[in-house]
Amino acid sequence: MSKREKQAAKAAAQGPDAFDRWFAARYGDRWPALLAAMKGTDGQVARANPFAQPSAVEALLGPLPRTALAGCSSGGPLPPPARDGAGLCTHYNLDAASVRVARALPITDGARILDLCAAPGGKSLILAERMGSGELVANELSAARRGRLKQTLSDYLPPELRERVRVTGHDATRWSLYERDAYDAILLDAPCSSEAHLVRQPPLPADWSPARSRQLAMRQYAMLAAALDAVRAGGFILYATCSISAEENDGVVARLLERRSGRVEICRLEWQTGEATEHGQALLPDTTGEGPMFAALLRRVS
Ligand SMILES: C[S@@+](CC[C@H](N)C(=O)[O-])C[C@H]1O[C@@H](n2cnc3c(N)ncnc32)[C@H](O)[C@@H]1O
Repeated sequence: MSKREKQAAKAAAQGPDAFDRWFAARYGDRWPALLAAMKGTDGQVARANPFAQPSAVEALLGPLPRTALAGCSSGGPLPPPARDGAGLCTHYNLDAASVRVARALPITDGARILDLCAAPGGKSLILAERMGSGELVANELSAARRGRLKQTLSDYLPPELRERVRVTGHDATRWSLYERDAYDAILLDAPCSSEAHLVRQPPLPADWSPARSRQLAMRQYAMLAAALDAVRAGGFILYATCSISAEENDGVVARLLERRSGRVEICRLEWQTGEATEHGQALLPDTTGEGPMFAALLRRVS
């Protein structure tokens, strides 16, 4: 192949058209509907802060429905949060699928929990609420985003709970250098290609190519392997991304199962919505109105 032909082939394999071709090949007839749903829905809900004064919350969100996502209000434009009389924020607006993910990590009272990629903190809030007398380490590598995370924690959690949440700034891929066998439960909400954000903020990057997912998958794998070293035997890891690329989802889990064979097993998520994948569960907006979100629950066995 001449240099010019190589350049032409590279150009054809990247950019918005390549994005469309790549996912059309992956999702087949479903792709137009999935793409339209990713552009059209953000699946956001307003999640009431259980520590805020109920009157302040209901003044903004109205009486809250008692559904599977109890404590969340959806439909129509979501109001921005306000402060209650004690200064706590009334609610947090986030994707319904994120709420499911943070609730799917098995946590018992008094657990030691690690949120490896925590900013801006929507899921950390849910973990903190669920931990009873336990403790949470909320980690975020980016200093700017760590600042946002700290702000979220102090805006939403009462001081006595905030005291049991420690914020750290480590590189998640290197966690086993700091701690091993230390946690009962770990959430790894990994940085990913987040295709829904790309399509909602056109134009798609001119240099988009499938190589993006392959590179991210290597980083995600390094984080998941580090999480496996950090969790205690018998403890749980919830791996999640908001990517629609199988490489970043089942592919990462499959590599762990292969390379750490005998040390880890898959547990099925008991969600009433979404679709089972080889190792986890996917919530896709064309069928669920939520996500995209992929989650896989793993348990360290030895
Ligand atoms: C999907 S977002 C997390 C969202 C968060 N769990 C929430 O619910 O608000 C992924 C986060 O991982 C952070 N991150 C990226 N690389 C990291 C690394 N090597 N170690 C720790 N955090 C990292 C990013 O800055 C980003 O804030």
